Amino acid sequence: MSRIWTSITGTGAALPGRAVSNAELALQLAERGVETSDEWIVSRTGIRQRYLADPSLTTSALGASAARAALEAAGVQAAALDLIVLATSTPDQIFPSTACLVQDELGAGGAAAFDVQAVCSGFVYGLAIADAMIRTGVYRRALVIGAEIFSRILDWSDRTTCVLFGDGAGAVVLEAAETPGILGARLHADGSQSRILCTAGRVTQGAVQGDPFLRMDGQAVFKLAVNVLDSSAREVMADAQLGIEAIDWLIPHQANVRILSATARKLGVPEGKVILTVDQHGNTSAASVPLALDLAVRDGRVRPGQHVLLQGVGGGFTWGSVLVRF
Ligand code: UT7
Repeated sequence: MSRIWTSITGTGAALPGRAVSNAELALQLAERGVETSDEWIVSRTGIRQRYLADPSLTTSALGASAARAALEAAGVQAAALDLIVLATSTPDQIFPSTACLVQDELGAGGAAAFDVQAVCSGFVYGLAIADAMIRTGVYRRALVIGAEIFSRILDWSDRTTCVLFGDGAGAVVLEAAETPGILGARLHADGSQSRILCTAGRVTQGAVQGDPFLRMDGQAVFKLAVNVLDSSAREVMADAQLGIEAIDWLIPHQANVRILSATARKLGVPEGKVILTVDQHGNTSAASVPLALDLAVRDGRVRPGQHVLLQGVGGGFTWGSVLVRF
């Protein structure tokens, strides 16, 4: 029996509302007595703008928009899906999963649907899980979505975090194929580092207990991110028996342009092969990798036959890489 592979046959993206520039955000924050500037944000992070959702928008609606674009690109009907995996840390509600709400919105009744919680690594985790499920032969068409409205868990009085994040969603359609496709995937976590990036609050007895806002030790996250992105890339390329030079496009989680540059330098990947969207979107957590992939597919940079390395890193601490031949 020939081996089953997983192929990415469509990508999609959705960005809410309108772009908010650093200058506009700095003005809004100044009204609250929070001091920041376009110069600080650009020089420390590379971020120039981010998209922020209106209060009425839900993560499921944003995810469904990206999913519809990916289904259209793949030429796949929602009713033909048999699996939906959605990565988010900002779900619509505690339960049911946001994936189930998206399934209903798309009219994909019957497809298995569940959420993955791996923060900024969530999309890469979801992709690896869906790939493994397709390779069993039981599931043939899957949707993997990263969707976030991080603006809702930001403390707008904390300048060390609130300028960094944005809202958005990205999605891919996966189909069983006779040729690769996804060449390899590796996931990791280190729960002992959970405190360096977390939203620790919980709902108990009808009230939020603990801190409901995102908190981060930026420098600790920075150092860990560069190290694990490097080791994870090397691990997946070695699994696939390919050298680093075989990477045509590197798409790491878009947290900070300095992390992307340091990772590329450490790996020996030319900066021209790194897809960069953090300048336009800010850090959109689980949505950042599929948003960047969709952009690079649609603008023609990612072409058939090329090797693309997708990488996640974030709260948990979690990280992982997926190598795809397009
Ligand atoms: O997706 C999750 C992954 N998250 C990340 O990857 C984030 C990783 N970390 C980072 O990207 C960086 O550590 C940051 C961008 C968060 C911070 O950059 P940094 O170069 O590590 O700055 P810092 O924390 O050392 O702060 C330098 C100064 C401090 O002032 P003092 O103590 O030197 O007087 C901060 O108070 O910058 C100040 N500062 C700000 N100033 C203006 C911090 N935030 C701001 C701000 N505007 N928004």
